Amino acid sequence: MITFLPYGRRVEARRGEKILEAALEAGIRIRSLCGGRGLCGRCRVIVRGGGENLSPPSETEKRTLSKDELSEGFRLACQTEIASLGDIVVEIPFESQPYKQRLLTGGLERPVQLKPAVRRVVVKVRKPTLKNVESDVDLLLEALEREVGNRPRVGYEALKRVPSAIREGEWTVSVVLWMDREIISIEPGRPRKGLYGLAVDVGTTKLAAFLVDLESGETVATASDMNPQISYGEDVISRISYTLEGEGHLEKLRRAVTEGINRLLREACEAAGVEPSMVYDMTVVGNTAMHHIFLGIPPRYVSLSPYPPVVRSPVDVKAKELGVELNVGAYVHALPVIAGFVGADAVADILATGIHEEEATSLLIDIGTNTEIVLGCRDELTACSCASGPAFEGAHITHGMRAVEGAIERIWIDPETLEPVYKTIGDVEPRGICGSAIIDAAAEMLKAGIIGADGTFKRDLEAPNIRREGGTVEFVVAPKEETSTGKDIVITQRDLREIQLAKAAIYTGTSILMRRMGIKPRDIEKAFIAGAFGNYVDPENAQIIGMYPEIPLERVRFVGNTAGSGARMALLSTDVRRLAAEVVRRVRYLELGADPDFQSEFLKATHLPHMEPERFPNVMRILKKVRKADLRKRA
Ligand code: FES
Repeated sequence: MITFLPYGRRVEARRGEKILEAALEAGIRIRSLCGGRGLCGRCRVIVRGGGENLSPPSETEKRTLSKDELSEGFRLACQTEIASLGDIVVEIPFESQPYKQRLLTGGLERPVQLKPAVRRVVVKVRKPTLKNVESDVDLLLEALEREVGNRPRVGYEALKRVPSAIREGEWTVSVVLWMDREIISIEPGRPRKGLYGLAVDVGTTKLAAFLVDLESGETVATASDMNPQISYGEDVISRISYTLEGEGHLEKLRRAVTEGINRLLREACEAAGVEPSMVYDMTVVGNTAMHHIFLGIPPRYVSLSPYPPVVRSPVDVKAKELGVELNVGAYVHALPVIAGFVGADAVADILATGIHEEEATSLLIDIGTNTEIVLGCRDELTACSCASGPAFEGAHITHGMRAVEGAIERIWIDPETLEPVYKTIGDVEPRGICGSAIIDAAAEMLKAGIIGADGTFKRDLEAPNIRREGGTVEFVVAPKEETSTGKDIVITQRDLREIQLAKAAIYTGTSILMRRMGIKPRDIEKAFIAGAFGNYVDPENAQIIGMYPEIPLERVRFVGNTAGSGARMALLSTDVRRLAAEVVRRVRYLELGADPDFQSEFLKATHLPHMEPERFPNVMRILKKVRKADLRKRA
């Protein structure tokens, strides 16, 4: 038996099983950025009892954990095997527990005319007579034809309910039609229930769900959580790799996300006082790997050149087949995808921002672990994506964390004293730094002259918050006396490097796309920056570090979770679904890896703001002004 603290949850241990696997079975999540490959060191647990029943520390553990940690009982959950069947007690320390992320659920959304895929029709059915004995279904379809002008097929789940519904309703029934082509539900008499739909955004890191009243078009509840697949790897590639590593792995991932969606469905329904059986339709968006995995489609070839998706067109599948607990006859509509690395979420972004209808040249950047970029206007749209990594979501940063309570979300540095001032989410004691403050930190350190354009700490600069120890340099943002973890929160040289790599990927993707299309930063009249991370970013600081080309700031708009908005629009209107399929046909995909300039562009973009400062005249003016003022003050 293995007991997990602090939850007190217990599961029967199996010999040869890893602690990480046993935790998953117990429904407990442990951070595992590398998907259990022993690379990230984030799955640290502390063995509190029964250590003799575990395998001895592996070479990987000896490399990753210090001697002190090993003697305190620290182990890597993905490396430690259950060697014999005795009682084991394992504590999952705070830093190894996944964070509940503060999520953006709302985003820019364009109004649509209500025309959902499902509608309810009430019909009066003729009774059969002895002279003319017709089947229940024939009589039902005859009545429906009078009402809607065609004879839909009768879905199997509805078919089983036909005889009782007709008679219980005394020959009046309410049927729910899907696309006017199929009866998906039948209830006796006049409707007593509402008609709802669920729009879901399946992100690599997060899930967001919107419960929508399909008769009024109103969103009645939202719910969000981490994508439970995160325990199997934090990025798209490690998830795909996981599906290839063993039989049944794809199904494990598929089930994990389905269960996550079911939890959000229940949470949203409870909040709105709606039964899940009243939810008759669902739309879903996600990047291509998330889309394929949710549908149970092997994503293997998405990760292999030339990265083809298995399917681009929209997919309609019964919710029951996927295990999503909507009304038993309901369908799930997965929006179409553009390419292997530009998925249905990017399609939803396009629909919500409306850049496919813009006369003006527009840019859309959806920042996440994978960043999608779309450029153009109604005549021409080109999309690409880049692996920007999880740095802006707090991973790979020493004290990085997601945007949850206790995360430092803004940082300012006094250019005279070099002392930082910060603000945390929830105004509580800090326990880490989230993406927006990670950008602030780099920009403010650059403005204050703590680091140079190459991102390294200035050698000769001394200040109370700059600490040099054992050849490493770090900037203390919050001393341990102020933090809830009792540890200093710092930005290290390695963190700055991670930030430089992430922002360079976004800049390079955007600039190559612009160059290929002959578009200069000043030609861009509208720039939409989307994503849960985007809303908390200071646009000027993002530009100071060179995250995207120098577009006039007044043209930059942070638009929130537009992937969720697009999914909701498609839920409200079948016209939007048709439009999505058309947009996919119009968007050209550009594979960045194949661009001969990618490497050199990327290298130049790692500088702050860029190795060619003439690309950022305004930023250079800001930096000069700050430094002049600083020199005056110091004088
Ligand atoms: S080291 Fe164990 S999950 Fe990464």
